[in-house]
Amino acid sequence: METLTVALGDRSYPIHVGRALVDRADLLMPLLQQAKVAIVTNSTVAPLYLPRLRDSLQRAGLEVVAIILPDGEQFKNWQTLNSIFDLLLERRCERSTTLIALGGGVVGDMTGFAAACFQRGMPFMQVPTTLLAQVDSSVGGKTAINHPLGKNMIGAFHQPRLVLADTDTLNTLPDRELRAGLAEVIKYGLIRDLAFLEWLEANLDLLLSREPTALAEAICRSCRNKAEVVVADEREMGERALLNLGHTFGHAIETGVGYGDWLHGEAIAVGMMMAAELSAHLGWIDGRALARVERLFRRAGLPVCGPTLAVERYLELMQHDKKVQGGKLRLVLLRQLGQAVVTDTAPVVEIRKAIAERSPHG
Ligand code: NAD
Ligand code: GLY
Repeated sequence: METLTVALGDRSYPIHVGRALVDRADLLMPLLQQAKVAIVTNSTVAPLYLPRLRDSLQRAGLEVVAIILPDGEQFKNWQTLNSIFDLLLERRCERSTTLIALGGGVVGDMTGFAAACFQRGMPFMQVPTTLLAQVDSSVGGKTAINHPLGKNMIGAFHQPRLVLADTDTLNTLPDRELRAGLAEVIKYGLIRDLAFLEWLEANLDLLLSREPTALAEAICRSCRNKAEVVVADEREMGERALLNLGHTFGHAIETGVGYGDWLHGEAIAVGMMMAAELSAHLGWIDGRALARVERLFRRAGLPVCGPTLAVERYLELMQHDKKVQGGKLRLVLLRQLGQAVVTDTAPVVEIRKAIAERSPHG
């Protein structure tokens, strides 16, 4: 097991990465405030991992409440969130009960938001079971639900007390989900870690075949990158926005086609291609660098071209982006491979062109 720390003073927390961690109640116990926890999971993950996590916690003497949500991005909404509150109240959970998110980013984001709101804030922990959640969404304290007009529009910053990334859980993950997770892994290379990008180019086939050592290394290097950014800029006043490479375009795809149709990782892969295309139009990266990015996404089995969605619809949806300031669109682009920047200077005509070039019949 490897342990990293998100160093946020008295809110610092460990990220443990390793095998068979869902059985390790001992890692959670010292961080609990009372002998009761509520596990939030979904109908797909529950049959796979809930019994093991619950048994290990019960063996350690804890009372365990289980809350099982429907599975899917389309359920990341008020109604599902409210069903968590209903159960917490019915089962007499308290402010010092700890919520444990067991699942992918959807479960993690909703559980974190529920924890931020319930009785004005309760502790929570992340037990991520998708690659995407292990490398990104479980770390950093962004929690949210979707609104019909925009992705992750309603939420809060609320840091977990612990992240337990059990790499064995990835063995049951469908291939398409593994590939979607790789999009966020590649993101770290593109925005701030050229050496990692080169490592990914060399080791992608091992990751696709789920070779455990390579997967663990990719998870640790991703989490180290994320932790450094979060520590430097927890509330996204500056540098943290770089973690949103491709997200302004990608969120528009997710909202535009309907939540759940495109996986988050797929949508942001296309978003990153649009950002790279635009960076090339602005003369920041050259054609060879652009081709290199495209080659990596293609090798990872990720889409490099978006759905049928009008350019005007993209622009309309992108206006809801959380980086918009004073009505002005701010985008994360590539100054070079391994170095992203936030800019509001990209001309709209170039933005339109980049979207069109990465759209069907573009
Ligand atoms: P997800 O949570 O929908 O999980 C993907 C699918 O895999 C689901 O069907 C899930 O039930 C299933 N699954 C989960 N673990 C499994 C396992 N071990 N074996 C088999 N099936 C398993 O999707 P995701 O890609 O994990 O997360 C995407 C979400 O994360 C989006 O809502 C996105 O907005 C959010 N996100 C948040 C942050 C953040 O910082 N908070 C960062 C990135 C993404
Ligand atoms: N996934 C973006 C962030 O955590 O800031």
